[in-house]
Amino acid sequence: MSEERRPLISGNWKMHLNHFEALKLVQELTYLVSRDDVDAVDVSVHPPFTDIRTVQTSLEADKIPFFLGAQHCHFEEKGAFTGEVAPSMLAKLGVSYVIVGHSERREVFGETDAMINAKVRAVLANEMTPILCVGETLDEREAGEAESKVTGQIQSGLAKVKADQVASMVIAYEPIWAIGTGKTASAEDAQAMCESVRNVVRDLHGSAADAVRVQYGGSVKPTNAKELMSQPDIDGALVGGASLEAESFASIVQYRLHQI
Ligand code: 13P
Repeated sequence: MSEERRPLISGNWKMHLNHFEALKLVQELTYLVSRDDVDAVDVSVHPPFTDIRTVQTSLEADKIPFFLGAQHCHFEEKGAFTGEVAPSMLAKLGVSYVIVGHSERREVFGETDAMINAKVRAVLANEMTPILCVGETLDEREAGEAESKVTGQIQSGLAKVKADQVASMVIAYEPIWAIGTGKTASAEDAQAMCESVRNVVRDLHGSAADAVRVQYGGSVKPTNAKELMSQPDIDGALVGGASLEAESFASIVQYRLHQI
């Protein structure tokens, strides 16, 4: 990780935890995560929509320095889109980071590159930070297509986004075969792919590549966080399963204190 880019550790709770459980987790985290931790690392939590207001109130009331995140939004500002949530609704709740194009949204809900690009732009237009997710399947990796898949996802995800906006963004490299499987990319492979993400951004937007933060996601745990975070092009982690328990998420946030 570079000196200039502040690390960002994000907990993606996916479709887990009702608002009571979410409140409990946030409160447990506040006992475990210290002021020194949040001075060193940005932390974001991404609850399900139904929990966001509760988590927001708790973070504000107790002055907890975590960023509030969302997992998803629509790209339109309003309209007849039953079940969807507009970016401006999230902004009004104090959401700072919105995950866009998670592989589960792409693969299970059929989100296309064009939709994902529209969402990236809508999130930015509402002064929030998109966490744009990219990553290959196992078949694509085995066929030697990992880099080309990820390059295409970045090119389309960042279409019509200005360089200064790209510089403010987060791109999460999440190999699909490592999500929820307990298999993690080796630190070398994760570094190589995150470097390749940065090089694609450099080809598109020059020096924005030095500022954009690149996260790794896929079975990040307390035991592998430090090694992953020690790689020069890995600036953060997007954590699923291990973010649902206060001890394991706090330990990942505290990766800098670990021995490798
Ligand atoms: P796991 O950490 O459970 O593998 O999930 C990763 C992920 O998809 C985070 O967005």
